[in-house]
Amino acid sequence: MQNNIKHLAIIMDGNGRWAQKKGWSRIKGHEKGARIAKEIVKVVKSKGIEYLTLYAFSSENWKRPKQEVEGLFRLLEGFIDAEIQELKDSNIRLHVIGDITKFPEILQQKIKKSIKETSKNTVLHLSIALNYGGRDEIIRAVKTISEKTIDPETINEETFKSFLDTAHIPDPDLLIRTGGEKRISNFLLWQIAYTEIYFVDILWPDFNEAALDNALAWFASRQRRFGMTENQIQEIETR
Ligand code: IPE
Ligand code: IPE
Ligand code: MG
Repeated sequence: MQNNIKHLAIIMDGNGRWAQKKGWSRIKGHEKGARIAKEIVKVVKSKGIEYLTLYAFSSENWKRPKQEVEGLFRLLEGFIDAEIQELKDSNIRLHVIGDITKFPEILQQKIKKSIKETSKNTVLHLSIALNYGGRDEIIRAVKTISEKTIDPETINEETFKSFLDTAHIPDPDLLIRTGGEKRISNFLLWQIAYTEIYFVDILWPDFNEAALDNALAWFASRQRRFGMTENQIQEIETR
């Protein structure tokens, strides 16, 4: 049986190396990367996938040179200005995961406005991870819980999830990381417990529909067992 994919998450890695290989500044790689992200959003939507989560800026990316961080903010602002109408028209709902309170005020306002203006959209939930770290998200959830008077007996996986940034988003079925590194880099630590993970050497600015199709075909061929035996899964599938 083929696996259904409801939620695709992507670690869009390799922008800097892509640009440096051409002798360009790293920010040129981020510019091309942003264009690819726009294209991939359209492709994912056309395939009927309901949730797409893109890792754009990690809680550790602040450690990069100031110039690169500022360049990334400029790009993000440009992305919002240029794409908000398109998101509205194409029925895409924007979400942000991560802690944007550390972002420049104007950028925060633009992000919040875009989230609000697309909040009635239904076809694709596009979540962008901004100043996102899986550990930071869990710590923020624990802080919120401890500020409330919650009976510890009521805390279980489901109630805990409701305090995460992804409260209303199902766990990813497939996680793709481009750029060749085989690590998670603090992305969706809680949510990927049973996610299939696909690593590919292609640098993000070179990613395209054909590369996505390869990942989706690989995903379709996986047997997801969720802790059960192969026989039990076959039994469920033939029922
Ligand atoms: C991913 O590309 C984008 C961000 C982290 C913002 P990188 O900038 O990490 O590119 P490489 O990995 O250095 O090539
Ligand atoms: C992960 O890539 C973050 C994003 C793609 C936004 P990094 O390039 O920051 O990850 P490391 O530092 O190589 O682990
Ligand atoms: Mg990188």
